[in-house]
Amino acid sequence: MAAHTENSLREYFEWFHRNPELSFEEYQTTEKIKEILEAAGVEILPLPLRTGLVAVIRGKRTGKTVALRGDIDALPIGEESGVPYSSEREGRMHACGHDFHTTAALGAAIALHKRREELEGTVKVVFQPGEESSRGALLITESGVLKDVSVMFGIHGVVNVPVGTVAVSAGPVTAAVDRFQIVLQGKGSHGAEPQKGSDSIVAAAQLVTALQTVVSRNLSPLSPAVVSVTRIQGGNTWNVLPASVELEGTVRTLAQEDRKRIAQRMQDLTQNLCSAFDVAADFQWIEGPPSAQNDFGWSKLAGQVALRQGLSAIPSQLYMGGEDFAYYQALLPSVYIQIGIGDSAPLHHPAFRVDPGVLEPTAKYLVALAESALLRIKNSKITE
Ligand code: NI
Repeated sequence: MAAHTENSLREYFEWFHRNPELSFEEYQTTEKIKEILEAAGVEILPLPLRTGLVAVIRGKRTGKTVALRGDIDALPIGEESGVPYSSEREGRMHACGHDFHTTAALGAAIALHKRREELEGTVKVVFQPGEESSRGALLITESGVLKDVSVMFGIHGVVNVPVGTVAVSAGPVTAAVDRFQIVLQGKGSHGAEPQKGSDSIVAAAQLVTALQTVVSRNLSPLSPAVVSVTRIQGGNTWNVLPASVELEGTVRTLAQEDRKRIAQRMQDLTQNLCSAFDVAADFQWIEGPPSAQNDFGWSKLAGQVALRQGLSAIPSQLYMGGEDFAYYQALLPSVYIQIGIGDSAPLHHPAFRVDPGVLEPTAKYLVALAESALLRIKNSKITE
């Protein structure tokens, strides 16, 4: 990539960083992406998306289609990173590095467009809205734009891994993200006369402890999973036992069978334990994205391309957080690739920062990845 492109990438990145927008409110971000792509002559597909967009680079007609994803949304966090191009929007920040993903995807789209005549097929570059809401990927899949896509690659920055390092391997990378809500309904009474009611607070306390046994007693010790009760709410004064208590929290799993097992065990424990305490219970399970699982063969290619680009390749950094990229992986072979962004506070932290030195090598890597994937598809057709 020429020096002027590197400067432009830096400029785009700083603009995105200064102007963070929350999930599904990425209007100016989308406008900016559109402006940059149009100025470079890159085609944008007409899709019914309010924010986000999909660019297309049409190479040789005989080839298949591959896709690249960059997510574009930011978080409701006040920035404290101290970078000179800090957020200009109160309480909003690109604290997950999606400004970097957007910039790298833009750089790749423009470079691929310039080389489209040599391209062994078509590349769709997805600028996905609303990743932090976990619903953005679903909007993209529902639009039908991925129907002809043979393989999809997504990137995400990973902190405290040096710039120039790519982390990718087959199998799980992020966890399934589910949420539960439990309402315990007992009978309120005077704090001095508990015998006249049925105490939902004591039942809730037992339940919080009991739920912690699901991972330790019902799952294989070799299976990573998390059950966290993150909110407990009941009562509003010191001398009254409330009628109801609410619990809420999250469950993270890597394997689908663990996910099912935990949901069932939590439901059984809630019903049986609460009934033992003479308290009614309502258990709700709200399913989020599944675990992101990288395709075997395509992960290998992603690692090989990194090495060919002079980057280092290490195994994926397993993470119990979620990623809506998993919705693509449920549909088509795909690979979620982590890119080292240097030393930083963690993701979603006010002091999070991306080393801008990562922009150009990542854009180049995405170009090489798309080209190699198309070539591999072409060669496999010849040998078939
Ligand atoms: Ni993110």
